[in-house]
Amino acid sequence: MQMAANFLYIIFLLLVNVVVHQSNAIPEVPALIVFGDSIVDPGNNNGLKSLTKCNFPPYGRDFKGQNATGRFSNGKIPTDFIASQLGIKEYLPAYLDPELSDEDLLTGVSFASGGAGFDNITAEVVSVYTLWDQLQMFEEYKRKLKSVAGMERAATIVKDSVYIILAGSNDIMVTYFATNLRSNYDIPSYVDYIVQAASSFIKNLYNLGVQKIGIAGVPPLGCEPMVRTLRGGITRECVEIYNQVSVLLNRELSAELIRLAHELPSSQIIYLDVYSILLDLVTNSSHYGFEEATRGCCGSGKVEATVLCNEEMSALTCEDTSKYLFWDAFHPTERAYELLVTPLVKNYLPILF
Ligand SMILES: *[C@@H]1O[C@H](CO)[C@@H](O)[C@H](O)[C@H]1NC(C)=O
Ligand SMILES: *[C@@H]1O[C@H](CO)[C@@H](O)[C@H](O)[C@H]1NC(C)=O
Ligand SMILES: *[C@@H]1O[C@H](CO)[C@@H](O)[C@H](O)[C@H]1NC(C)=O
Repeated sequence: MQMAANFLYIIFLLLVNVVVHQSNAIPEVPALIVFGDSIVDPGNNNGLKSLTKCNFPPYGRDFKGQNATGRFSNGKIPTDFIASQLGIKEYLPAYLDPELSDEDLLTGVSFASGGAGFDNITAEVVSVYTLWDQLQMFEEYKRKLKSVAGMERAATIVKDSVYIILAGSNDIMVTYFATNLRSNYDIPSYVDYIVQAASSFIKNLYNLGVQKIGIAGVPPLGCEPMVRTLRGGITRECVEIYNQVSVLLNRELSAELIRLAHELPSSQIIYLDVYSILLDLVTNSSHYGFEEATRGCCGSGKVEATVLCNEEMSALTCEDTSKYLFWDAFHPTERAYELLVTPLVKNYLPILF
């Protein structure tokens, strides 16, 4: 009797184990679709007459074939790590890549544009694609997808895929703090404006048949190398006011997302906490093997980004990127991006399945 009971108990444990394992496994996601700014732009700006691009060395120095594809880093960017960790593909291409294939349409693309924000003005002043331009490209994508996959399969792909939106940093850092374009707003009212713009973007996306959406908050902007240089004093500290705006924006955004998830039937909308992970990487950089977390690798590391980070200015550029948290004055290195994305995919994205 006792033995039979033990035996049943063991079977029970085995079953529980199997069930737990199955629900932990990531089910098949047909495609990954991304909107946003330079953190997730694989080269959509390459064809633009804008200074906000980087399809030249030393960008892409550690990428496959040392190709400067237009990614704003030395190697892979978050979209590549998300796509590969979801089991979709190794690299997420730019929608505007001239070599884009039908297979790329079926498994997803990024519409993101370096320099963009939730505020239309943010992209307009640097002549890049606004989030609303990106939404129009998505409508065009849907038409192409229908012709490749057929009506029914295309609708399933659109509904079952994972969508990531990452923007807001340029609105705060560039439009609000570095120009007077929004001088009629104070911080709380501008944050509110951004959150409402994000909310309306998500509703538009939902009305196009999209259900599974992850929206990233903004990082601790006061710890970007450029902000430290301009506002961090002689010792280039993290700038508290910028971090406080990040915290405020993230708090309001995540509250609005909870509201939206209730309002939009069968939507799955989640907030991705980028802030805490990056602040940990910056504060505890040495735990992660970084030797430099306040300067970028490129040039002096204090101001260079995009056109200022180029081969002629690169006598000072670091040798071993893996010791650096930042690649240029705005953008993390490939290794930092991998450390950022891995917990996001593991802890948050399974909620969408
Ligand atoms: C470099 O990247 C671009 C854009 O993704 C691509 O079109 C091109 O074929 C790549 N070149 C090489 C040599 O891999
Ligand atoms: C951005 O521009 C688009 C197209 O002109 C418009 O539909 C949208 O409402 C604008 N968004 C904001 C937040 O102003
Ligand atoms: C730094 O690491 C310590 C110990 O792991 C942790 O308690 C702390 O929260 C980390 N700092 C940040 C900003 O995450």
